[in-house]
Amino acid sequence: MKFFAVLALCVVGAIASPLSADEAALLKSSWKQVSHNEVEILAAVFAAYPDIQAKFPQFAGKDLASVKDTAAFATHATRIVSFFSEVISLSGNEANLSAIYSLVSKLGADHKARGITPAQFTEFRTALVAYVSSHVSWGDNVAAAWNHGLDNIYAAVFKALE
Ligand code: HEM
Repeated sequence: MKFFAVLALCVVGAIASPLSADEAALLKSSWKQVSHNEVEILAAVFAAYPDIQAKFPQFAGKDLASVKDTAAFATHATRIVSFFSEVISLSGNEANLSAIYSLVSKLGADHKARGITPAQFTEFRTALVAYVSSHVSWGDNVAAAWNHGLDNIYAAVFKALE
């Protein structure tokens, strides 16, 4: 019993403010509208922030238009989008908090090993939100749900990047 109480505290400490069921539903429905656009999403991120593209060995120094339609680009785009799909699908259920925290912490640790900085993660967030907000019906409630969800993800990523 004591063990579970401590575990619950750790989980709450890791994701201090879990999404409500309504926020999770908004996140899921808006993401569903764009998550099939993997290539367009990654291309939008690279176009807005070429320093992110420059970190990818296969795409660094190449014209975005020349790599965008390649299989390698689709593969990377699918990996990144699938990560969000997995985390978003787990959201809204407190029983999944520790699973979300593990996934996101691992993402941060893997990217730290590649020399990716918090500033670049923030650029990625800006570009992602710009893409989603211009491709779904976007209002204050949807924006707040995305902000809350990304704040949680980014708190764990930044901790892992320290
Ligand atoms: C929340 C934002 C991000 C997500 C969800 C994400 C997701 C992923 C995933 C799932 C992978 C493949 C699995 C792995 O090797 O870890 C990956 C690889 C990678 N990511 Fe990210 N990433 C993000 C942000 C960034 C940023 C901002 C950069 C660069 C500035 C970056 C650079 C890379 C690189 C260089 C690889 C390896 C590519 C290769 O295998 O050649 N990522 N990312």
